[in-house]
This record gives sequence, structure tokens and C-alpha cells, in this order.
Amino acid sequence: MNPTRAEIDLNKLEFNFKQIKQHLHSENPRRNIKVCGVVKANAYGHGIQEISKKLIEVGADYLGVANYDEAIKLRTQIPDAPILVFGTLIHSKLKPAAYVAKLLKYNLIATVASLDTAKFLDYYSRKPGRKFKIHIEVDTGMKRIGFDVKRAFKNISQIFSYKNLDIEGIFTHFATSESGDKTFAKSQLNKFNELLSMLKKAGMEFPIIHAANSGAVLDIKESHFNMVRPGLILYGYYPSGDIKHKIPLKPILNLKSKVTFIKRVDAHTSISYDRKYFTEKRTFIGSIPVGYGDGYWWSLSNRGRVYINGKYYPVVGNVTMDWVMVNLGERSSVKIGDDVLLMGSENGGDLGADKLAGMLKTIPYEIICSVADRVQRVYIDKCVREC
Ligand SMILES: Cc1ncc(COP(=O)(O)O)c(C=O)c1O
Repeated sequence: MNPTRAEIDLNKLEFNFKQIKQHLHSENPRRNIKVCGVVKANAYGHGIQEISKKLIEVGADYLGVANYDEAIKLRTQIPDAPILVFGTLIHSKLKPAAYVAKLLKYNLIATVASLDTAKFLDYYSRKPGRKFKIHIEVDTGMKRIGFDVKRAFKNISQIFSYKNLDIEGIFTHFATSESGDKTFAKSQLNKFNELLSMLKKAGMEFPIIHAANSGAVLDIKESHFNMVRPGLILYGYYPSGDIKHKIPLKPILNLKSKVTFIKRVDAHTSISYDRKYFTEKRTFIGSIPVGYGDGYWWSLSNRGRVYINGKYYPVVGNVTMDWVMVNLGERSSVKIGDDVLLMGSENGGDLGADKLAGMLKTIPYEIICSVADRVQRVYIDKCVREC
């Protein structure tokens, strides 16, 4: 079996979830705020099925996915939990009536970001005779999808006249909640609040109101309303260095492999494609079967480090699709079969996605989402150990 695997600790997921719940409670002691666990993009690379099951087990109220394909697949594994689809409704190969009937059968909650979608769902829900549950998205500044906040009152009033829609929620999405400067996020929140009060005055109310992604869960308590939508913090990372570490979080994924080949090479020997590295002295080079085909970034060529038996070793030469080479030194005790930590933290080694992101000038989101499908996911859960 390929030794490269992503070890995902569901106990740490539970820990992060509980930290979030406690934080919400301490910020809003008198209110019970629901949590929509964001599990889109295969739960940020961690495996949507196992992560969703655990989130529901520990008390998540909703699951949030990006599109209808993810939602349908998830529904076959999670029969009951409410699933909110953040994406737009793109037409399928099915005829509209059959498509809407299918979505109703899977009991999904749609984001309505345009009148077209509202009309479509309303019209094609009339025959099944079941109201389609929706959350309305308002664009207060993200400029991705949603009703422009300036015209939202008129559009939402129209949606309220449709008979076959069950308007369960309304939400907006922040563009900068993770930034230290909250000016823009606060202006988005003000616009959203103004709209909500206009709607309320006109008799339009919503059982569920939400806005907060990870940055806002931690830093903008006025945005918690009665549901929040954390993603990244569930997986153990802060969305940016600007956010104060208000709650402890544990990264839940460790990307690991094993040393599978060791050779001794002379001084001035080039390693890997393109000969970007030459040994200075006679040394041992270890080869690890992980590469950019597994989500180990090519840009870590000659820059990355791995952690073996309590010590860091440098990645030398170019990362290849299936292998990286590391310099083990002149007198190495590393043996074939030794475990290698590539990303994450363990036994004092810290190769967190946040650190890698800093080095690669990207965001931790991209690092964790990059772990490829071919990498086996191994789940650690207390039940597995004890039962
Ligand atoms: C609509 C929506 N809500 C919530 C989230 C979760 O964001 P984060 O991972 O920053 O918590 C996302 C992710 O981008 C999103 O698209």
C-alpha cells in the first residue's frame, strides 16, 4: 500500500467545534446560535462524508456545500441533516420539472441569488406540491453572487409573493472579515442590517439569518445573528495572521508518508529534474513517495522541509509528480520505513498549512484543499480506538 496518507483526527475536529460553540456562547450568552459547518470542496480536502458525520454527531445544525452535485452526494450519506447549497442552480441534463423534483427528493436548501432562480424553483415546485426551502443571498460588498443590496428590498418583496417557496433564511458573505481592518466588513454588516430592518417593517421576517464565516465568527460578534458558517477554523487554522488567537484550534490533518529509498551520493551530485540542487559533501539522500500529484507543492522544491524522527530535513532538488528527495546528512540514522511528516504538526514538528502558505505566498485554504484524491484519508476517532 502506498505509504502516503492524510491522517485526519476527528477528535481534533470535535475540539475545534466545541471551541467555536463556547466562543459563540461567551460572546452571546443569551442566544443559541446555530452552526452551519462548511464542508464544501470535499470538506476543504478532508473528506466530506466523515467530516460531515462527525460534525452532525457533535452538534452542527446545518452543512454548507458549494453546489448541487456535492449536496446530492452528501445526502446519500447523511440522510437527515439540513444541507444548504451556497451555489447557483445550474441547469442539469434533466428537464426542469424532473430536476426540481429530484432536488426536492434530496431535501436540499437552495441559495436564491437571483429572481430567475426564485421563479424557476417556484414554478417547478408547484406540481410536486412541496414548497422549496430557500435562503436568500444578499450581496453587500463581496460582488460574487447575491441580490445587490440596493435593489434587494424590491426583489425580496417579489419572492415573498411566490407560493411554492419556503423562505427559511437570508444571508450575506463578507469579503474581508479576516482582515485586521474591519471597516469594510462593518460597512457590509450595516447595509445588511438596514435591509433587514426595512424588510421587518414591511412584515418580511426570516427564521434564520447568517453572515459570519471564520473571520467574523472570531472577530465580529454583531454578525453572528442566529447562525454562523465557519469553514477553515473547523479544520484548525486561523483565516489570517491578523485575527487574534481568541480560541485554541488544532489542525486536524497531517500529510504523512514514509522514507522508501535511501542512497549515498558523492559531493557535487545533482538531485532531481533540471539539476537545481548539487550536494556539497558526500551525503545520504532519502526519497519519499509524495509529489505534486499528491498535492505536495512543486514550489517547495529546494525550499520545503520534512520532519522525520524529531528532526527537520530539507527538500532538495525539484519536487516531482510522485517523489521528493531530502538531504539526510552525512551520518543519518533515518531508515527505510521511517515516518515522514510533510504537512501538519506532530511530536514537536510544525509544518502547518499556515506556515507553508506563508512560505508559498498563498492562503492556508489552498494548501489544505490541495491534498489530492489519490492520497488515502485515514481517520482517527476515539470510537475507533475504544470500540
Ligand atoms: C458562503 C460561504 N460561507 C462560509 C464560508 C466559510 O468560510 P471560512 O472558511 O472562511 O470560514 C464560505 C467559504 O468560502 C462560503 O463561501
